[in-house]
Amino acid sequence: MSIIGVGIDVAEIDRFEAALKRTPGLAERLFLQSELLLPTGERRGSASLAARFAAKEALAKALGAPAGLLWTDAEVFVEDSGRPRLRVTGTVAAKAAELGVRSWHVSLSHDAGVASAVVVAEG
Ligand SMILES: CC(C)(COP(=O)(O)OP(=O)(O)OC[C@H]1O[C@@H](n2cnc3c(N)ncnc32)[C@H](O)[C@@H]1OP(=O)(O)O)[C@@H](O)C(=O)NCCC(=O)NCCS
Repeated sequence: MSIIGVGIDVAEIDRFEAALKRTPGLAERLFLQSELLLPTGERRGSASLAARFAAKEALAKALGAPAGLLWTDAEVFVEDSGRPRLRVTGTVAAKAAELGVRSWHVSLSHDAGVASAVVVAEG
């Protein structure tokens, strides 16, 4: 076991929500439907979405922010306990494999108008 990389990011929740409202198609470019919708079918709240955006930025930093990563090739999903996990596919899985990443750790937080995430890439 070894740490390949770590990433951190913050996002201002109101600004992120305004960007989603203002830019047609942005939500679908950044997120999978499984991230946009709660299990009830309602839309996930802006604080949680901003934290998921921060998680994807943090993941990119953990990989050294290479060009060509697709936002929707990283998914934040939630275990029954409520713990968030990362699942990667496509462009992100390919870069992770190249660097020897075998598992991911993610933590999200949102308060005081800011959402944040930390990601650790483990080899
Ligand atoms: C490089 C990038 C992560 C910077 O993020 P940002 O939101 O513009 O800026 P932040 O303030 O959050 O972070 C800035 C810090 O990122 C760090 N950073 C810059 N390049 C980096 C790299 N290649 N790898 C890791 N960290 C990097 C630097 O430490 C910088 O701080 P500094 O200038 O004081 O040294 C961003 O431009 C980027 O490429 N994002 C990834 C997009 C992407 O791949 N999305 C799909 C992911 S699934």
